Amino acid sequence: MHQSGSTNGDSHQRTFTQELAVVREQCENLGSLLQNDYQRVRRGLGIELQLNLVEPHITPLIQSYRSNPRPVLSASCFPNSRLPQQVQHSLRRTLVTIALATHINMDRPEFILEVALASYLADISMAAIPEEIINKPDKLSTDERKVLQNHPSLATKLLRSKDFPSHTLLYILHHHERHNGSGYPAGLKGSKIPFGASLVGICDTYCALTAPRCYRKADNPTQTIVTLLREKGNAHAPKLVDTLVLHLGGFPIGTVVRLSSGEVGVVHRHSPSAPTRPTVAVAQDPGGQLLTPPFLRNLEDEPDVSVARVLDSSKTRLNVLELLSVSG
Ligand SMILES: [Fe+2]
Repeated sequence: MHQSGSTNGDSHQRTFTQELAVVREQCENLGSLLQNDYQRVRRGLGIELQLNLVEPHITPLIQSYRSNPRPVLSASCFPNSRLPQQVQHSLRRTLVTIALATHINMDRPEFILEVALASYLADISMAAIPEEIINKPDKLSTDERKVLQNHPSLATKLLRSKDFPSHTLLYILHHHERHNGSGYPAGLKGSKIPFGASLVGICDTYCALTAPRCYRKADNPTQTIVTLLREKGNAHAPKLVDTLVLHLGGFPIGTVVRLSSGEVGVVHRHSPSAPTRPTVAVAQDPGGQLLTPPFLRNLEDEPDVSVARVLDSSKTRLNVLELLSVSG
């Protein structure tokens, strides 16, 4: 897999910025399609999505990730805020799922497509669940929990008459099972859980924790990686946790960090051989002055400098997207 540049299967060389624009355009299309069906489900109507509407937008994302992981990983940091939260969550989860599925099962493209489709469609039935239940900050009552926990079965029912692969429906049905058997709907444990469902499940957790909810702030990506590692073997299978952490890194792309030098920047890329020593696009000097132009510091080559702190990206004045496009 290339770490820079892109061939993207059409022999057309694109820069990172061009490739990111392509990825975001596919996400826009997928977001509009999903939003349309969310609205239909909310009104009690059947869904319109079918394989030939979705696949043409998912396949280019899979190809893009194989050519160069950075555009897809970068897009996963930037949900489209014009879309409902559930739709944004499904899109981010789809991108992270493509990343994880590619590394877990690179030689089985049909698996990557099936699991990406499952990730995209898994919560389509949430539109039928009252917002008061979805956004309730307190513990759910038994009845409310039953309604919420019915959403994988309901999604499977809504999609049954469509032409999506049967494995995709199976992964949707079980995407809330947990490795230790504490999940739903069947309380399956370990290897009894369909593997694609476990894969969507860990990506769902990562994306849920890194997004704000009306009753809590988002965790930063590094906090979330730490949470996943701490819970390894409980909620999620060790192999999935290890692979996700290896390829997202301890400081995932887009994370705003302060370095031990006092400089501030954005994680620009990382190398699986050094998950805690990413390349950072440095944009602010130790005195807080913006640097023009920003520059890249590869911590793998600079043993004296390390990441000192992760900063709240919503509170910085850095243009993260622009910094991810810095070349060097
Ligand atoms: Fe779900």
